[in-house]
Amino acid sequence: MRKPIIAGNWKMFKTRDEAIAFIYKVSEAMPSIKEVDSVICAQAPLMRCLIKRQGENLRIGAQNVFYEDEGAYTGELSGKLLNSYNVDYVIIGHSERRNIFNETDEMVNKKIKAALRNDLLPIVCVGEHLEERENNLTNQLLTTQIKAAFKGISAIDMERIVIAYEPIWAIGTGKTATADQAEETCAFIRTLVREMYGSVVADAIRIQYGGSVKPANIDEIISKANIDGALIGGAALDADMFITMVNAAVKK
Ligand code: PGA
Repeated sequence: MRKPIIAGNWKMFKTRDEAIAFIYKVSEAMPSIKEVDSVICAQAPLMRCLIKRQGENLRIGAQNVFYEDEGAYTGELSGKLLNSYNVDYVIIGHSERRNIFNETDEMVNKKIKAALRNDLLPIVCVGEHLEERENNLTNQLLTTQIKAAFKGISAIDMERIVIAYEPIWAIGTGKTATADQAEETCAFIRTLVREMYGSVVADAIRIQYGGSVKPANIDEIISKANIDGALIGGAALDADMFITMVNAAVKK
């Protein structure tokens, strides 16, 4: 029904040579995969050398986009430029952007609109801190983040969006949410989307889990009904691990 999506978030890692070695290895191991969308989100100069070598098996994404298409915004990345390079996806609202670079829900909303008008598919990250989970505030926080992120986004656009549920306490910490915790929260997100947009959109939208996903836990995570893939940091830097995780999603 929903095509799984495995996305690697390389963050601020890899040189040009390392990126090229990775993509050659992936192209050789999985020349064409139709059952899963596989994506690598890389730093801006790396995207260019990856795009030249990408095939149907692997699409390329950015890790951020600015909400204006052009102007005097030193250091920012334009959606219009990304589109002109045939970049397909963009991660928006990653917790590192929210926490280190002070991105607000309002900025996330404007960035989603910038991505959509430039034909980029947004992977929109939401997720709670440990204190919020411990105080049973996860669903409340996610409701606030999601309602703000998608304010003014039409149902048609919503179907193109991927939501990545990433509990902040599980990112880069080795602590994964249990598959049941991840499923319960992804199911909650789908119910919320159903309330906001109706069943057609809720059944179509893809929801990923992210936070210390690796070959050892992907099978269980991907087997869950409401989890349509994963957003993967550390383990997606290694080509063999990435290939294993894409293959795990093929079985879904
Ligand atoms: P991790 O990162 O897989 O290294 O925990 C996930 C992410 O930040 O998207």
